[in-house]
Amino acid sequence: MTTRVIALANQKGGVGKTTTSVNLAACLAERGQNVLLIDFDPQANATSGLGREKQEGRSLYGLLLGEDSAEHLISPTEIPRLDLIPAEVNLAGAEIEIPRLDRYLHRLRDGLQPLVETNRYNQIIIDCPPSLGVLTMNALAAAHSLIIPLQSEYYALEGLSVIVRLVQQLRDSGANPALEIDGIVMTMFDNRTALSRQVWQQVREHFEKQIYDTLIPRSVRLSEAPSHGKPIILYDSNSTGAAAYRQLAREFLSRRGAKTPPP
Ligand SMILES: Nc1ncnc2c1ncn2[C@@H]1O[C@H](COP(=O)(O)OP(=O)(O)OP(=O)(O)O)[C@@H](O)[C@H]1O
Ligand SMILES: [Mg+2]
Repeated sequence: MTTRVIALANQKGGVGKTTTSVNLAACLAERGQNVLLIDFDPQANATSGLGREKQEGRSLYGLLLGEDSAEHLISPTEIPRLDLIPAEVNLAGAEIEIPRLDRYLHRLRDGLQPLVETNRYNQIIIDCPPSLGVLTMNALAAAHSLIIPLQSEYYALEGLSVIVRLVQQLRDSGANPALEIDGIVMTMFDNRTALSRQVWQQVREHFEKQIYDTLIPRSVRLSEAPSHGKPIILYDSNSTGAAAYRQLAREFLSRRGAKTPPP
């Protein structure tokens, strides 16, 4: 078993990065995978979405400065096999501090290396902030692959080409030569609207190999779950949102050819 590091990124805000990070991580754990979710956004939505209080100083900020270890920040969650490294607002300081340091793109990769080498986790999932700043760049430099959540709306494709170009630059520059796009997942999909279907078709035309078959529907239950501090499989296990994220977890694992025990 080797650990895979997957970044969930899209510079656009509110497209479902955190919802997908939390729920994909929970569904992978439910399927028997050992999963670490890293909240890498100073907004700390993944932290509160898992029912965790923000705690002063408890984020990867210290690790990025080379003053803390990942192990020290890990704690278990309500879901068996799902651990969390939380965030809090101090992480925003990293955007200012990190560029002054050497290897500034690789601070996260370097800091996670000892943990990755233990192979304690099957998957490490990183929830990125809505920008292409230093934090997201560090996540992309640390990751084996990237999942891009894409909201089914008109400007989605333009934003997608920006991040795809960035992935190419990270490869070409040698910052992360092996970075792959694991997949593009359509979020807040509404099959009743022509726009949702059009965006889906366009993305399929351009990114046939990358787009996931699984569509995440717009669902009130999915948007309510974080205010209860729970992933959807705990908040409403029989909802359409729970079914969609379970299916995404299956599809994610089958793409990687990973063997999983039955849930
Ligand atoms: N499938 C869905 N159906 C309904 N609401 C959703 C769905 N996915 C996400 N949301 C809601 O949309 C909002 C944005 O989602 P989310 O926080 O996951 O996006 P994000 O990309 O992480 O945002 P940010 O860029 O601010 O980090 C949240 O209020 C969330 O509850
Ligand atoms: Mg978010």
